Amino acid sequence: MSTELSPIDRAKRNAALRSCDFVEDGMKVGLGTGSTAAWMVRRLGERVRDEGLQITGVPTSTRTGDLAREVGIPVSTLEDVGWLDLTIDGADEFDSEFNLIKGGGGAHLQEKIVATASDRMIVIADAAKDVKALGAFPLPVETIKFGWKCTRALIEEALSGMDVLGRETSLRMAGDQPFVSDEGNFILDLHLRRIGDARQLSLVLNQIPGVVENGLFIDICDVLVIGHGNGAVEIRDIERQAPGLEAADGAEPENIFADTGE
Ligand code: A5P
Repeated sequence: MSTELSPIDRAKRNAALRSCDFVEDGMKVGLGTGSTAAWMVRRLGERVRDEGLQITGVPTSTRTGDLAREVGIPVSTLEDVGWLDLTIDGADEFDSEFNLIKGGGGAHLQEKIVATASDRMIVIADAAKDVKALGAFPLPVETIKFGWKCTRALIEEALSGMDVLGRETSLRMAGDQPFVSDEGNFILDLHLRRIGDARQLSLVLNQIPGVVENGLFIDICDVLVIGHGNGAVEIRDIERQAPGLEAADGAEPENIFADTGE
């Protein structure tokens, strides 16, 4: 059986592995959720085992907590730890201002709380998630179950006054049942296609009764570690604004996703 990774998986893996270099002894680290974050958690587990790296991990989902324990990372809760040095997490989209859409895996509520309670958030992603404007990826909005249809109607009404291209909403499903988040809530996906003002949209959504949290991460991400399909890794730091391309895998830095229009 071939173990060759697809270009996107290779990009995710390289970004995740590179992000682990930011983790130092004694750090309290928020552990993100998703396929890219899983590479990062496994690599940190290796460093704990092989280098004796001493960290405390705070997972952003049940899934990530299970994986972290499995690979030997000491795990705690945000309540016990209080504040984190660093959170490393994936994203579904990011723009040039380091704003994100997250929640494709349904964990954005815990992810946003954990990232916001951190000195720094590092986002790891493949280059196909680099967008001019957020919104092609459906925006997840976590809502409590009680009265969720009314909440959806209020969201749709609010969207009619917003600068977005699409206004469809759908209840996220898991098979023939609604998907239920770790916090016991539903998720509505908003098919907006392009978001004109993400900051304003985030504020408006979070004012609607029944909405717990939306998947827009505004002014939270500090560093982007972007993996390219040819093995190169690009680091963008919001403080420096001077992108640096590194050749992981011995490859030439080149964005093979640049012509996908995404
Ligand atoms: C989980 O809820 C999400 O926010 C993930 O971080 C995001 O969907 C990225 O997932 P992948 O790394 O699997 O693409």
